[in-house]
Amino acid sequence: MINKVKVNIPNNDKKSYYIHIGPSADGSLSYTAADIAKRFPRSKCFIITDTNVEKLYAREFNKLIAGQGIASEIISFPYGEKSKTRKTKEYIENQLIKSGANRNSVIIALGGGVVGDIAGFVAATLFRGVPFIQIPTTLLAQVDSSVGGKVGVNHPLGKNLIGAFYQPDAVYIDVSTLTTLSDAEYRNGLAEVVKYGAALDIKLFELLARNADKILSRDTKLLKNIIERCCELKAEVVNKDEKEKSYRRILNFGHTIGHAVEKLSHYKIPHGAAVSIGMVAEAEMAFRLKILDRKSVVKLKMLLTHLGLPIDLPKNYSVPDYVKATQTDKKAVEDKILYTLIDKIGSGVIDVPLTSDDVEALLISRNYSAKFRL
Ligand SMILES: NC(=O)c1ccc[n+]([C@@H]2O[C@H](COP(=O)([O-])OP(=O)(O)OC[C@H]3O[C@@H](n4cnc5c(N)ncnc54)[C@H](O)[C@@H]3O)[C@@H](O)[C@H]2O)c1
Repeated sequence: MINKVKVNIPNNDKKSYYIHIGPSADGSLSYTAADIAKRFPRSKCFIITDTNVEKLYAREFNKLIAGQGIASEIISFPYGEKSKTRKTKEYIENQLIKSGANRNSVIIALGGGVVGDIAGFVAATLFRGVPFIQIPTTLLAQVDSSVGGKVGVNHPLGKNLIGAFYQPDAVYIDVSTLTTLSDAEYRNGLAEVVKYGAALDIKLFELLARNADKILSRDTKLLKNIIERCCELKAEVVNKDEKEKSYRRILNFGHTIGHAVEKLSHYKIPHGAAVSIGMVAEAEMAFRLKILDRKSVVKLKMLLTHLGLPIDLPKNYSVPDYVKATQTDKKAVEDKILYTLIDKIGSGVIDVPLTSDDVEALLISRNYSAKFRL
């Protein structure tokens, strides 16, 4: 059975789209191929993927699309974050143009967040925009990156510095693709799932806490419900603030300190682990600011630990190192960084302005008496 979540784009209903969440009875890739063929009967499809997902799913999916009488071709690039560059974008564009892509061609991103971000950016700029479909195959991409239209590539000086907002025409999620994901990549996505619960939905948080073991065993039925709820929450956020002018920053909980952890470790600490550490550090900051109670911090730590995620700031960097690493954060205004904190489980607070001195004091002190007026 396929469930559907609508993403309403503010003031532009033509751009609104559905997230289809399976598996379906006949296998979701068959459902997806048939649905795409129905929507784009005279278009050629280009399946953009990485070398891992090509072997696992893209070749099979290419055959399914062909079986629908639709011309289709795979364009694949080496897996991993190191490929998220302008060079890979150029390679894909060269292949597309050589293969006769035109304005009606459909770009299909089949893979994790790297594939989705880069293929979406290609779709946004090729002929000033062509149809774009997301088929996310990592947990992180299913609950986060495939929905909401942020696309782009990295620059040697920073992640995601070049990009656009470009909404997909549809997103197709097959939860059973998660069975082939490594434990490390699966945990990466779990950190973002916990973030939705912690910042937006106490019921989701409690569901995760009650079912941590089942989640770790990748129970498909439970995962489908959880992923669907995360997609609903992301859709609500995008509907309120598509281009991250304000409210969408609610999704940054854990990410300011998390990015600092990633950066200091030269990206050896994966994004999910860094966000997990970041959520705990930021929850403790909120506690010391007297906006969050101790019990909630403990609950957050217990859930993350149960899911196998780290919670402590690595000790090989000093507090001033962490503070310095947050200073290039895109969310900086004058000398203050705007933090997203939580004031209870399920309730985020955006734009808490903190100076470097504030953050240093909050990260060091265990008994910080609040001198801040929020
Ligand atoms: N656009 C957004 O809103 C947004 C949000 C969050 C993160 N991101 C971006 O997403 C990227 C990270 O995404 P990711 O974690 O999916 O990484 P990824 O795309 O690199 O995928 C992780 C690894 O899993 C492999 N893989 C993918 N699906 C698989 C499957 N079903 N089975 C086995 N292996 C599989 C990939 O080949 C890769 O090696 C980052 O570049 C980040 O900036 C974007």
